[in-house]
Amino acid sequence: MKRAAAAAALQHLPEAGVVGLGTGSTAKIFIDLVGELVRGGRRLVGVPTSKASRAQAEALGVPLLPDDGPFEVDVCVDGADEVSDGLDLIKGGGGALLREKIVNFAAKKNLIIVDATKLSTRLGTTWAVPVEVARFGHAATAAALARFGRPTLRLRDGAPFVTDQGGLIYDVATGPIDDAADLERALDAVPGVVETGLFVGRADVVIVATPDGARERVRAR
Ligand code: A5P
Repeated sequence: MKRAAAAAALQHLPEAGVVGLGTGSTAKIFIDLVGELVRGGRRLVGVPTSKASRAQAEALGVPLLPDDGPFEVDVCVDGADEVSDGLDLIKGGGGALLREKIVNFAAKKNLIIVDATKLSTRLGTTWAVPVEVARFGHAATAAALARFGRPTLRLRDGAPFVTDQGGLIYDVATGPIDDAADLERALDAVPGVVETGLFVGRADVVIVATPDGARERVRAR
């Protein structure tokens, strides 16, 4: 299903232009497909949203913009962990939420590719909200985050997971969220918070793959 969603995204790509390259297992399949297009002569330049996506795209021979920006992205294609009825998102399961959000905001069009297991009526029902925080004082930041839900320091192999920028991640178990925009603003206001995995109003098109094929949902404006 992830492959079906990634393949359906290809029809949204320009003949020539700049493409945001998401992070995660679904975006990885998409990047492989972009590599095939580039090998076939398509003039696409990528903006990767993580070190992993950069390494993958480089290995495939996809030309890339430098990390410094500025980026003028025609279309960004990325995955998500949870998609609400209103097409708001929780992202950051792979820890790349900061770069993903920067590239998302630099894109004229944002396309999200998911399988149907990611759909839920209200954000926070199936996923905690990933919050990237600065290392300095992270336990103090976590104490402030506890007002919104139970924060759990993300670990990998028993040690704190460290983001591409050297930050840490707390997954904040909020439960179903009433107002995701309001929560995003409140989390952003906590000193030490670098970025949240709430993407509110940031998906233009969501491609949902089901066993019966991929279908598109377009955000109402
Ligand atoms: C990466 O930080 C995330 O935002 C991913 O886009 C998200 O976790 C989806 O990943 P999968 O495609 O692997 O489910």
